[in-house]
Amino acid sequence: MTAEEYREKINVALDTCFRLPETLPQAGLAGAMRYSLLAGGKRIRPMLVLEFCRIAGGNIEEAMPVACAVEMLHTYSLIHDDLPCMDNDSLRRGKPTNHVVYGECTATLAGDTLQAEAFGTILRSSLPAERRAKCAELLADAVGLDGMCCGQYLDMLWEGRTLTEQELTDINSRKTGALLAAACQMGVAAAGGTDRMLKCAGHFGAALGLAFQIRDDMLDVTGNVEEFGKPIGSDLEEQKNTYMALLGLEGCARTVEKLTAFSKDILAEGFEDTGFLCALADELAIRQK
Ligand code: IPE
Ligand code: IPE
Ligand code: MG
Ligand code: MG
Ligand code: MG
Repeated sequence: MTAEEYREKINVALDTCFRLPETLPQAGLAGAMRYSLLAGGKRIRPMLVLEFCRIAGGNIEEAMPVACAVEMLHTYSLIHDDLPCMDNDSLRRGKPTNHVVYGECTATLAGDTLQAEAFGTILRSSLPAERRAKCAELLADAVGLDGMCCGQYLDMLWEGRTLTEQELTDINSRKTGALLAAACQMGVAAAGGTDRMLKCAGHFGAALGLAFQIRDDMLDVTGNVEEFGKPIGSDLEEQKNTYMALLGLEGCARTVEKLTAFSKDILAEGFEDTGFLCALADELAIRQK
């Protein structure tokens, strides 16, 4: 399957979620959730779930709820990341951010609800019980006290302070790398893959995730707002610690290239049919959005 075909399939599956009759009192909350969920992200994380499931020998239709769950979780993280108390941004996926449209209270709750529904979606899927449990555990670990939420906390706590490269990598591997790595591993888990595959998928996703955040930091400076779909210069405004500040544009580009090559080498150690993922890694290294 091509990336475009995966994206189309994922969008169709996501569009079936949270459709409530207007007569229900919580229809407005569901509307806010759908607004951000269907705003048109790149769908990288669900794509990783499905492709890792495929190369680990699984059935991608069965893994679709897991793929949707990762995107729900990711969308929650974006809604909260944009809130005035966090990055205070007003553009996301080319549209006004959730709180700009629905207000801070509903936006906060839309994020909370997407997080809960992500776990529900995994646990209600038709996968064998132990695979569902493994996927839910991987997701919880990637988001919780050692994962994405920790990274977001450190990102805020250390604003305005000069960090070492080690400290910045620690933030970014948590706030971004953890969920990308978990998406890869959840694909393997949905397929019932081996521990060796799980480990390899995690290492690939972690390297890809770091490269992904460095590229994001680059685009926050050099990007084009129409293509990027997010404000340019947001990091500087919020005094964020970024790779651009630490390594400069050239240094960032070199590091992304190195991490991308490294991720592909790691992948080859655990899997054979790696063409799609290698091409995806290469594409993400030079993405403009
Ligand atoms: C944005 O993620 C947040 C970061 C981790 C940098 P994406 O760049 O995957 O955003 P969407 O899903 O395509 O909107
Ligand atoms: C946040 O990183 C990553 C998340 C956990 C949402 P950024 O704050 O750089 O992400 P963008 O640039 O707003 O998408
Ligand atoms: Mg942020
Ligand atoms: Mg942000
Ligand atoms: Mg950013």
